[in-house]
Amino acid sequence: MKKLGILVSGRGSNMLAIMDACKTGKLSAEVSIVISNNRDSNALTIARDRNIKTAHLSSITHPDVQFLDIAMKETLIDNEVDFVLLAGFMKKVGRETLNAYKGRVLNIHPSLLPRFGGQGMFGIHVHEAVITAAEKETGVTIHLVDSEYDGGTILAQRKVPVKINDTPESLAARVLEVEHVLYAETIQKIIDGSIILPD
Ligand code: GRF
Repeated sequence: MKKLGILVSGRGSNMLAIMDACKTGKLSAEVSIVISNNRDSNALTIARDRNIKTAHLSSITHPDVQFLDIAMKETLIDNEVDFVLLAGFMKKVGRETLNAYKGRVLNIHPSLLPRFGGQGMFGIHVHEAVITAAEKETGVTIHLVDSEYDGGTILAQRKVPVKINDTPESLAARVLEVEHVLYAETIQKIIDGSIILPD
């Protein structure tokens, strides 16, 4: 059984969708550790309620950014993590961790990258920008993480229509429903070999 390490900062709905997919067998994996930079995040509460191991790693626990990176890498390795999943993680992943998990760190982004990605494009800002640009469709992207924001190889995308009366909030909700399905589906495809990760 492959082991997943999830990095979260906020409410954790994608994390929860992955945990549910593991529980129902849609995803043949288990979450071995949830790590958050935010000790008050809802995601940590959800994980603890489900008896999943958690860790708080941040500039409070590790003021030196290099030590923080090393602690992140060691926590993932100690918990035998195979794949690292960013699920609303608001910090950059450090070089040590990226090197140790090269090509095995994934992120989910609420747009069709490369459109509406990069620095500052997170949360509701993404959906505001899509509506301002009068896009007719947006979507969800699952991609590998490298040292650039939203810059790594795209593994999966799914389109979502933008409706004429959409607000950023209504659009975010429609996109989020797809996020909850696509993340687990993509990880399962990696596990069963129908998506091959680049070397
Ligand atoms: C999602 O929209 C995801 O695409 C983005 O951050 C948000 C996290 O939401 N990376 P949640 O914490 O999973 O509810």
